[in-house]
Amino acid sequence: APSNIALVKYWGKHGQQLPQNPSISFTLSQCVTTTAVSFSPRQTGETAFDFLFEQKKQPAFHPKIQQFLERITPYFPALEGHRLSISSQNSFPHSSGIASSASAMAALALCIVDFEKQFHPLWTEEAALQKASFLARLGSGSAARSIAGPLMVWGQSKAFPQSNDHYAIAPAVEWHPIFHDYQDTVLIVDKGQKKVSSTLGHGLMQGHPFAAQRFEQAHSHLEEIKAALTTGDLERFIDLTEAEALTLHAMMMTSNPRFVLMQPNTLALLQKVWDFRAQTDLPLCFTLDAGANVHLLYPRQDRNPIMDFIQKELLVHCQQGQYIEDQVGNGAKKN
Ligand code: PMV
Repeated sequence: APSNIALVKYWGKHGQQLPQNPSISFTLSQCVTTTAVSFSPRQTGETAFDFLFEQKKQPAFHPKIQQFLERITPYFPALEGHRLSISSQNSFPHSSGIASSASAMAALALCIVDFEKQFHPLWTEEAALQKASFLARLGSGSAARSIAGPLMVWGQSKAFPQSNDHYAIAPAVEWHPIFHDYQDTVLIVDKGQKKVSSTLGHGLMQGHPFAAQRFEQAHSHLEEIKAALTTGDLERFIDLTEAEALTLHAMMMTSNPRFVLMQPNTLALLQKVWDFRAQTDLPLCFTLDAGANVHLLYPRQDRNPIMDFIQKELLVHCQQGQYIEDQVGNGAKKN
């Protein structure tokens, strides 16, 4: 299962991993988690799972997996009678500061649904993918969107008739072809662990002075970005994407407690992107996750001059010059 990068951000949740506002993301293609699970009857007293990450035991991941299995068991009770041997690896460096929970939880959910399918011979492929997105959501909200592609919507929105809070959908919309292979070059500014955990981060929106306006804004941004994504209006796309990235950080800077997750190099990069765009008129823009790294988004047709600019001007702001080249993709695959 691939990672994904949100254009309209999910920030704030309630109940059992339900979003406070709808979000939309590009599904990526190079940053993936590959997971294999074997299921065996579980004997009394046996642990529910064992886990290998890149061929090694990784007890640090156990609590998250344990919590995930506990959360999903009510939706697949037969899981209780099975022991899972899970083996997982990432295509991207573990310590790159790239969050892997979306691809990891999506891959694990897909393996479990693949096993569950035998109990539901009438399930369509679509039903199975919906269930996988639903289960992945219970592991990590954004994982709900790492199932299909090229664009995924999660959370109820007027702009997308089938959208809902429980699982993500790949809307039946004809996206402008320019977005089918849009580039995402991730500039690694900080390889460290996340400074604010996801749970703490979403919790910051509870009682946030700007929460209501923010959730409302996400709804209208989603409607507007749908128009830009179907017509290929890059100016509008850039405006909305950058507004969303900075709003996410503005929410963190104005919550209680407050956090600044951008670093001096993040700001230097944003400024250089703006200068480059003004000078060249090339449609290069950025988005950010809840961290210091910068995702550069641009059309494939503009790759040469933009890669040249990245190499010459931007890599000096990256930790050990590190970056990852990715592009929009079509979702998870069974090997
Ligand atoms: O899936 P979580 O709970 O780690 O939340 C992810 C939130 C953001 O990455 C900041 C935004 C998003 O929509 O992916």
